[in-house]
Amino acid sequence: MHYFQYKNNELFCEDISVADIAKDVKTPFYLYSHRTLKQHFKAFNDSFDGINHLTCFSMKSNSNMAVLRLFAEEGGGVDIVSGGELYRAIRAGVDPKKIVYSGVGKTVEEMEYAIDSDILMFNSESCQELAALNEVAKRLDKKARVSIRVNPDVDPQTHPYISTGLKENKFGIDIKKSLEEYKAAADMKNLVVTGVSCHIGSQLTKISPFVDSLKKVMDLINKLRDAGIVISYLDMGGGLGITYNEEKPPLPAEYAAALKKEISGSDLTLILEPGRVIVGNACILVAKVLYTKTTGDKNFIIVDAAMNDLARPSLYGSFHGVQPVRSGDRNKIKADIVGPICESGDFLAKDREIESLGQDDLIAVMSAGAYGFTMSSNYNSRPRVAEVMAKGNQYQVIRKRETWEDLARGEETLKI
Ligand code: LLP
Repeated sequence: MHYFQYKNNELFCEDISVADIAKDVKTPFYLYSHRTLKQHFKAFNDSFDGINHLTCFSMKSNSNMAVLRLFAEEGGGVDIVSGGELYRAIRAGVDPKKIVYSGVGKTVEEMEYAIDSDILMFNSESCQELAALNEVAKRLDKKARVSIRVNPDVDPQTHPYISTGLKENKFGIDIKKSLEEYKAAADMKNLVVTGVSCHIGSQLTKISPFVDSLKKVMDLINKLRDAGIVISYLDMGGGLGITYNEEKPPLPAEYAAALKKEISGSDLTLILEPGRVIVGNACILVAKVLYTKTTGDKNFIIVDAAMNDLARPSLYGSFHGVQPVRSGDRNKIKADIVGPICESGDFLAKDREIESLGQDDLIAVMSAGAYGFTMSSNYNSRPRVAEVMAKGNQYQVIRKRETWEDLARGEETLKI
């Protein structure tokens, strides 16, 4: 469910015409729907009513501060993976007591910053990291709350690049060996063992891998209790998939019901780290057709957005719907929709059936809110695009388009 709909063949975001925004903002730009973001967050979070829970939005999927602020106002926290994300979250007004910190390679500086900020919990991924965190906390004369991220060896049945819960992946500590690591962590004076965490992958379209890993984690929590280690927080990570094309992922309510069933009766607080399911379908990337051409029997639609703006199609072969902003009675053709970057890997869609668009027509690349802007780069010295949020019949630029001056900021010619 989202608020990008046609009215008289013209694409609207909530109550504004996308073409009108484009006239003002220029293309390309990411366009968010405030109503969709809010509704997705609430639908997800409310599904867990009835048990103690905290929804920590996974800001690697989208770290725009206007987006983060909206979720913070709804009572949400965030899942971070770097000092930079912590900085953004705090600036956006997220309560540090609602921040969990995951990732296999936290640096000493990042740990210091997070301990000083008094975040809720570190999700530690190795015994060396636990020891390092203990040292940092000791030096600061503080205690750090930790969970161990366990790897349950469950197949999430998703793209190999975004699977994380298999034993060949770099993430977490083997669940079978984790009891020993927990005992070692409990003996470290500047750590307070508070949780267990687990994240098995992204864009999951079935419930069973979540339930299988939760069962393994609950089993571990019981063993820990028997060993005198009391766990208060169970962090089940993110991963719930969305519809890009024809996928039929479970609804948040179905996912929540399955998890609730497994933990009911315990006094654990469940932490969720959803990213894609909240923001994915709440945003489009708007671009303009520069040229069209036919080579051999192949049609190309060359637009002003490229793989540096939206990396997912090139990187993972991901499908994103592409729709004309003004839909008409043009013929349908099959075309590759490509950007100006100088490599053949630069495409937004391949062999796609689409209306035969012409110069200056606008397109909307759908489902671009998760891992869209956050994975964009300056490749080919292309300034990163603007981000815009629409709310009812108004809109606001929530991140300015970069300028050519921005591209060269901080660089110097050699003076030695
Ligand atoms: N928690 C942890 C520890 C994670 O590693 C991730 C995603 C999430 C939560 C959020 O997962 P989500 O709910 O968004 O599925 N760039 C890839 C996705 C990488 C996901 C990495 N981890 C893509 O564009 O598909």
